[in-house]
Amino acid sequence: MIDSRHLIQKAYEAKGYSYAPYSHFHVGAALLTTDGTIYLGCNIENAAYSPTNCAERTAFFKAVSEGERNFAAIAITGDKEEYLPPCGVCRQVMAEFCDIETFQIILAKTPEDFKVYCLRDLFPGAFSRDML
Ligand code: THU
Repeated sequence: MIDSRHLIQKAYEAKGYSYAPYSHFHVGAALLTTDGTIYLGCNIENAAYSPTNCAERTAFFKAVSEGERNFAAIAITGDKEEYLPPCGVCRQVMAEFCDIETFQIILAKTPEDFKVYCLRDLFPGAFSRDML
């Protein structure tokens, strides 16, 4: 059973590290592995703009680069009091490493108000290695 509230709190913690001097839009993500480890991620912007990395991918790349391959859920929070959906590029990265039927994406409007989706809901028709 995933402790969504705890994961959301970690996403808020991650948002505190956001480096967003250009958009001023701060995003935090907390990625939970199936063995219970949590990796934090924030968006990291750049003066050249295109090297910007989203919070979700920061969390994934930190985890994957430390040998993690099995993921259960990610909580995401942004600056606005809205459910912040992951961008298409981040969905593609999630699809690379996660079971699209079971991986949970928790969109937190506030620590108490959140929606939970599975990756398939947000990314139908995903391109995957099966197609190569
Ligand atoms: N951003 C994320 O970190 N995650 C998303 O899912 C959407 C967008 C960041 C990228 C950029 O730093 C800022 O939000 C504005 O697009």
